[in-house]
Amino acid sequence: MAEKTPLFYRKFDYDRRLVPNAYVASRDQAATNVAQAEAATGLTVGYPGWNILYYVTLASLKPGDHNVILETGTNWGFSTIMLAQALRDSGLDGEVHSSELDPENHRRAQDNLARSGVGDLVRLHLGDSLAFLREFAAARPVVRVAFLDSGHDQEHVLEEFRLLRPLLDEAGTVIFDNTFKLRTDDDPEQKVNGGLRRIMSEFGGNLVNFPHCSWYTPGMAVWQAAPFAQDWA
Ligand SMILES: C[S@@+](CC[C@H](N)C(=O)[O-])C[C@H]1O[C@@H](n2cnc3c(N)ncnc32)[C@H](O)[C@@H]1O
Repeated sequence: MAEKTPLFYRKFDYDRRLVPNAYVASRDQAATNVAQAEAATGLTVGYPGWNILYYVTLASLKPGDHNVILETGTNWGFSTIMLAQALRDSGLDGEVHSSELDPENHRRAQDNLARSGVGDLVRLHLGDSLAFLREFAAARPVVRVAFLDSGHDQEHVLEEFRLLRPLLDEAGTVIFDNTFKLRTDDDPEQKVNGGLRRIMSEFGGNLVNFPHCSWYTPGMAVWQAAPFAQDWA
């Protein structure tokens, strides 16, 4: 199968008031294409991906619980701000943890979080996501929402999920970016899409893919172990 032309579904012609955080909206204000957006906000999912992160998180947090939200691949902190804004708007107790490998990205994320109005809810970790997940797992937290968006090779995606899975609340949700199918199913270059296929075959569960958002590679998906796992008691 021929390689597909890069596709970009990040939107620029939209009402910035729809972005749930005013600082993020202001940073995206002048961007009219992917190059301008990358200069202003880095490799972030953009609109409407930001809102997927925000609403999936807001609708997944559990009243009465301490809600742990985990992210790999902070980049410049714009997705982290969406997760933290959802926690703030939920009015619930909790914390956001995000890990980034690159020190310069980590520094930019610190700056952006400090201006976002929700930085007090976030702990940024510098280092490899797999090391971060292993260390994080030692404290046995119950993770309510995770956004896995660091290394995009399928092996890395799968390994992150393997480390995360024992920590996940049964009704917890895991969000992925860059889910678009690039090549044949068994091609090792089939990155997040290949990782998701392997997650589904190893762990089962439910996956909903949203193809028309984010940018090269486009697509975001949400995984959940079981749709009705919540306890009504
Ligand atoms: C696509 S960007 C993340 C975008 C961000 N989640 C957002 O939507 O705003 C991927 C980031 O993961 C980082 N990264 C790559 N490999 C990593 C690893 N093994 N551990 C932690 N971060 C990693 C990269 O430096 C990059 O900043």
